[in-house]
Amino acid sequence: MNHLHRRDGRLFLEGASLEDLARRYGTPLYVYSRAALDEAYQAYEQALAGLPHLICYAVKANSSLAILQHFARLGAGFDIVSGGELARVLAAGGSAGKVVFSGVGKTAEEMRMALEADIRCFNVESESELERLNRIAAELGVRAPVSFRVNPDVDPKTHPYISTGLKQNKFGVAIGQASALYRRAAAMPNVEIHGVDCHIGSQLTDLSPIADAIDRVLVLVDELRSAGIRLRHVDIGGGVGIRYQDEPPPDMATYRKILQDRFKGRDEAIIVEPGRSLVGAAGILLTRVEYIKAGEDRNFVIVDAAMNDLMRPALYDAFHDIVPVSESQAVPVACDVVGPVCETGDFIGLGRHLAVEEGALLAVLAAGAYGMSMSSNYNSRPRAAEVIVNGNEIHLVHERETVSGMMAGERLIY
Ligand code: LLP
Repeated sequence: MNHLHRRDGRLFLEGASLEDLARRYGTPLYVYSRAALDEAYQAYEQALAGLPHLICYAVKANSSLAILQHFARLGAGFDIVSGGELARVLAAGGSAGKVVFSGVGKTAEEMRMALEADIRCFNVESESELERLNRIAAELGVRAPVSFRVNPDVDPKTHPYISTGLKQNKFGVAIGQASALYRRAAAMPNVEIHGVDCHIGSQLTDLSPIADAIDRVLVLVDELRSAGIRLRHVDIGGGVGIRYQDEPPPDMATYRKILQDRFKGRDEAIIVEPGRSLVGAAGILLTRVEYIKAGEDRNFVIVDAAMNDLMRPALYDAFHDIVPVSESQAVPVACDVVGPVCETGDFIGLGRHLAVEEGALLAVLAAGAYGMSMSSNYNSRPRAAEVIVNGNEIHLVHERETVSGMMAGERLIY
């Protein structure tokens, strides 16, 4: 349930009229349903019920402070990939003891910051990174908790840009080389082995690659145990995919069975790092039609949101459903929904059929994940505002960026 419904021909998210929100806060505007966030989080709790576990929300999917604060309230931990994300988690009231730190390029400064905050675990992705971490932990007089991110060489069957678990990808260490690395780490004075980690890709709608990856990782866990290295947790990486168009909806009952079958009776805790599936369906991007332009070949619906606000269509050719906020008497036309940015790749949706007029509002659906967090100032466009709706309550959680805010920090040379 995404909590979007029509009343007298007008769209509401929970109790909030989208027309009213657009009037109050302007467009483009990201709007999220708190109930949808809760339901998505509870689906993971149910899948993991009875097993020791920690849900570490992948901050990159949507790093707005209010979203982080809400997940912290629900008991979540966080998967971070930068010092900036750690600072956000702490500013939002998240606890460092529930933070895992992923990423291939952690800087010395980021390691120091995470060690000082006393995070739960570093997901180490190379031998050089292990050596740097051991050295920095020694400087601080502490032991760094580590997992190795292993690359199980499983095809996640998703878009190539968001596949990460194949041997040709830059991520993790080859699973065949992992035992040697664990032995090295075990001999290091300033690291402490906590677990193992893998992440094979994002937007997985077929769950069998997740099951295969877990099976391969558990073989390693058992080999390590025989060699006297006991792991406390297994981090299985990101979550399931979501429905954007006509993908089969990922089945949480199957997901639950995959996890329960594999982990029942084991003593390692499960860590899971879902991003998209916790926030994606909960968010929409509201945008207003500026112009309708009848081209020779097709019609263009030119809206006030652009690739800088929602980059996914331009970058991955991703599909987001687009629906009019108010039912219109206009005749539906075949059209491309495009933004004002000066690039042909600046589109929100191609080949759509929409009944709209100039000035109408459109809702771009399933935009809660990798929307605002990937937005930019390209074409010197201030970033959108964000609102969270909770029943009839409306919270403006991120003000629209101002032009002067956008230029703050820049200096002229003459
Ligand atoms: N953990 C790690 C180490 C990751 O790299 C990612 C996502 C996640 C967890 C969360 O995965 P999720 O549950 O969201 O599938 N910008 C792209 C998605 C990039 C995903 C990168 N890593 C998009 O808009 O589709």
